[in-house]
Amino acid sequence: MPEIETNHRDSELFSPPSDVRGMTELDRTAFKKIVTIPVLKVRKEIVNKLMRSLKRAALQRPGIKRVIEDPEDEEGRLIMLDPYKIFTVDSFEKEELSILKQLNVNPQISKYNLELTYENFKSEEILRAVLPEGQDVTSGFSRVGHIAHLNLRDHQLPYKHLIGQVMIDKNPGITSAVNKINNIDNTYRNFQMEVLSGEENMMTKVRENNYTYEFDFSKVYWNPRLSTEHSRITELLKPGDVLFDVFAGVGPFAIPAAKKNCTVFANDLNPESHKWLLHNCKLNKVDQKVKVFNLDGKDFLQGPVREELMQQLGPLSKERKHSVHIVMNLPAKAIEFISAFKALLDGQPCGSELLPIVHCYSFSKDANPAKDVQQRAGTVLGISLEASSSVHLVRNVAPNKEMLCITFRIPAAVLYKNQTVNRDNHEDQPLKRQRTDKDL
Ligand SMILES: C[S@@+](CC[C@H](N)C(=O)[O-])C[C@H]1O[C@@H](n2cnc3c(N)ncnc32)[C@H](O)[C@@H]1O
Repeated sequence: MPEIETNHRDSELFSPPSDVRGMTELDRTAFKKIVTIPVLKVRKEIVNKLMRSLKRAALQRPGIKRVIEDPEDEEGRLIMLDPYKIFTVDSFEKEELSILKQLNVNPQISKYNLELTYENFKSEEILRAVLPEGQDVTSGFSRVGHIAHLNLRDHQLPYKHLIGQVMIDKNPGITSAVNKINNIDNTYRNFQMEVLSGEENMMTKVRENNYTYEFDFSKVYWNPRLSTEHSRITELLKPGDVLFDVFAGVGPFAIPAAKKNCTVFANDLNPESHKWLLHNCKLNKVDQKVKVFNLDGKDFLQGPVREELMQQLGPLSKERKHSVHIVMNLPAKAIEFISAFKALLDGQPCGSELLPIVHCYSFSKDANPAKDVQQRAGTVLGISLEASSSVHLVRNVAPNKEMLCITFRIPAAVLYKNQTVNRDNHEDQPLKRQRTDKDL
């Protein structure tokens, strides 16, 4: 028998029945419950007019109609009211009472026994009722196409399949729920994951900043929390600029840059990322503008990047107006890779004033993360970057762990170690500071 709830002021009124606590296999029928709701009896022809003025007072629950037929009067309707706001006639506001009077509605409150089912509860209410009392039930997840990507805590694991199913039921478009089973520490930064509920298929399609990406989420890196960072970098680029993307993933820097008419060289060591990068370039119709590589970042820098830089910065480049950018988004390791810039163009002639600008990502757990990143990058290059770089806080990854992006122009003294620099056409220009450390 469904539980009958009568106390209007009960804060648990819209909680599922108490006997669902501890359920590990989802039984939707166990969520049935009857609650007593205040209602107004009205004539059907005034319902539309009245509802506009009763927005505050009307009941708002997922899947519950606010107006139903009056079982005792064919010509009448019942307006469901919010039991936390309306107890008696005195609970109506002055304007509400006035419109009731205008429309000749008796403001007396009646009662209606409403059946609530699984469909009428929000995911958080369901999980709060099922999981052990007093424990965190956070129902948040990252959405990657049709996939809900959860990061469950230990105490939630006995309920993992139920949690996954609730996420699918309550979030339109989600047909698969997966749980991260360890931290990203493998080379290709893809998550090790367990399918909790729904489709096993991890082939998915996402939209980010108006571009479409397709990939197998179990085999490549994708993080929906980086969309702002992808567009921040894209906005720094101008048509005609050259972009080298050393750790390109499936293309979220490379594709928008190519769409902006930049020349793009994009690389990823993961053969699966490389495959989807090629695919996404075609999908977004920029395959003619992106050269795609499947190399270790160091080999990419010392091979294709070096060759192109020789062209871009060589003696014929004096008139060159566009900038060269190098994006390095592998925060756990990218700083180590900037050592490849040391003497990269040693012995080469340099005709350009516009040396490449590096955007290198890093994590930091330091109390002063900006300074920490500047110092570590400076140490690798053997110079000080504190006055000639800017640091942008990308996001807080975990308590006391930040992801940052350090941006600096590679000094000539680093790129051309043994070259006598011609001061007429070759300056070590510090990068104009876009943000200060205080931004952090
Ligand atoms: C954090 S992801 C960034 C992907 C993409 N740029 C983005 O913003 O979503 C880092 C990428 O670097 C790739 N990677 C890891 N080690 C690498 C290496 N040694 N050389 C080149 N790519 C590497 C991984 O496969 C992964 O796609």
